[in-house]
Amino acid sequence: MPNYTNSVWSETTPAPPYPVLDGNVEVDVAIVGGGITGITAALLLQRAGRRCAVIEARRIGKGETGKSTSHLTTALDVPYHTLISRFGIDGARLAAAAQRAAIERICTLGEELNIACDFHRVPGFLYAERPRDVAELEREAEAVAKLGMQAVLVSHVPLPFPVARGLRFDNQAVMHPRIYLQALAAAYTAGGGALYEETQVVAIEGDLCRVISDRGVVTARSVIVAAHVPIVNRVLLHAKLAAYRTYAVSVESTGNEPDAIFWDMAEPYHYIRKLRLGERHLLIIGGEDHKVGDLADTTLPFARLENYVRARFGRATEPTDYRWSGQIVMSADGLPYVGRNSLSSRVYVATGYAGNGITQGTLAAMVLTDEVCELANPFTELLHATRIKPIASARAVVSENVDFPRHLVGDRLSLRRHEHDNDRGQALASIPPGEGKVLMLQGEHLAVYRNANGQLSALSPVCTHLGCIVHWNNSELSWDCPCHGSRFDPHGRVLNGPAVAALEARPLPEAEGEAVPDEAIILETGEHPLS
Ligand SMILES: Cc1cc2nc3c(=O)[nH]c(=O)nc-3n(C[C@H](O)[C@H](O)[C@H](O)COP(=O)(O)OP(=O)(O)OC[C@H]3O[C@@H](n4cnc5c(N)ncnc54)[C@H](O)[C@@H]3O)c2cc1C
Ligand code: FES
Repeated sequence: MPNYTNSVWSETTPAPPYPVLDGNVEVDVAIVGGGITGITAALLLQRAGRRCAVIEARRIGKGETGKSTSHLTTALDVPYHTLISRFGIDGARLAAAAQRAAIERICTLGEELNIACDFHRVPGFLYAERPRDVAELEREAEAVAKLGMQAVLVSHVPLPFPVARGLRFDNQAVMHPRIYLQALAAAYTAGGGALYEETQVVAIEGDLCRVISDRGVVTARSVIVAAHVPIVNRVLLHAKLAAYRTYAVSVESTGNEPDAIFWDMAEPYHYIRKLRLGERHLLIIGGEDHKVGDLADTTLPFARLENYVRARFGRATEPTDYRWSGQIVMSADGLPYVGRNSLSSRVYVATGYAGNGITQGTLAAMVLTDEVCELANPFTELLHATRIKPIASARAVVSENVDFPRHLVGDRLSLRRHEHDNDRGQALASIPPGEGKVLMLQGEHLAVYRNANGQLSALSPVCTHLGCIVHWNNSELSWDCPCHGSRFDPHGRVLNGPAVAALEARPLPEAEGEAVPDEAIILETGEHPLS
């Protein structure tokens, strides 16, 4: 099986380790999570005179930031004509200004710190491959014109396959997200900032905030939860969010493709960029998104992307040595939730960036720095995290959250049906090495995994967030929860929140003709490719 967890960035970026938290510390601001949001916020707050501590569960940049294709665009995943209908002309204009402000902040930080992340300006093309999408594209062109954005309709899009029409946005940008992130972290720690890795936050308590981790407690006046999804506010905010998987592959570029970024109007959609990696020129093609836990065979999106590359770019098969996927989190109304957590005056959240999280994570860091420092920021009101308006978003909230009770009840019922179908021995024998399956064995639901050596181990399949049943993800070897996107490695450890606790280990009933070795019941340790 190909390696499906090999991001083009991770191999090429040295990442010095930072210490684990050892005991208790006191700071002005505790920041949970070392991705683009957390590290940018730490640096900006430090510049504003605040003592900070960043607490990262794994390694910085190992979350979604290290998987991003890093298109830095003023265009958003949600079309501007939709934003105008939800937030009005002024709200949509402010959203566009926020994107521009984030791109410019990334640019100035890169210049000030002399970061060799290859940040450079490129044109961006939204393109309609099919003639039937042209009317929608023209509608978007009208909307962005009303907002005064730099974008023009074009009949030629510089791609090596036919395209009906395009909308060109000038002055967009790209960069290498992991080099950028590592450089921000280096500047922050060189300035005396505390950064702890391999330290998982499990709770945030009290008014003088106590951030409880598995290694010690950080006490702070304010806490920023920059964990991509909030690990506080376990219900309310999640009712407005939906987690998706998105996929990417990289292939050698012929060198003839223009240095530009592209995204299409298909459903699911695709995005394309070029990348210089030393002497190599690569193309990155991404997309094929689906809701977390909704696809039985997660190798399919990779196969579809590779077909797309063959059909559109005329490449032979074996297109790539880089394939990876990651999580994106959609908000109900198309803009991120950034600001004070509900019922809390000192805890701040930032989430719901969709596929625009490099810019919106930067934006969130700018907005939250000003909130913590009690300074006015032009984007605070637009993005505040407790908003339930505009009204249009209410429908999206309801439709996304229909999935939660459906999975909570429906997945258990379908497991009960399997109980009668499957004899225990057959059920276990049906799991090949390197695969997992949720089974009903002797009246108990079990998430059973067979490692490469053939040894079986078992976990409770009940997600530790709000109790849905996890599904096996066969390309990333993880247990994924379809309700709010928590993910766990084969041994149950958390890969993506909102869950903070591991899946519980369970003894596995011995199957006829297949003795289960002790070490399979005591779960193996070892590094998951994504950890
Ligand atoms: C394939 C792909 C392509 C993308 N392309 C683009 C693009 O072109 N342009 C764009 O703008 N965006 C893009 N995105 C989205 C963007 O990368 C993300 O939205 C963004 O990086 C999120 O940043 P973050 O800081 O919120 O989260 P992360 O980078 O995930 O950082 C959060 C950190 O919090 C840590 N954490 C979680 N729970 C805890 C806990 N309990 N205790 C301590 N630490 C914890 C995690 O380990 C993680 O390191 C893409 C994403 C993917 C996956
Ligand atoms: S129940 Fe919410 S992520 Fe699993």
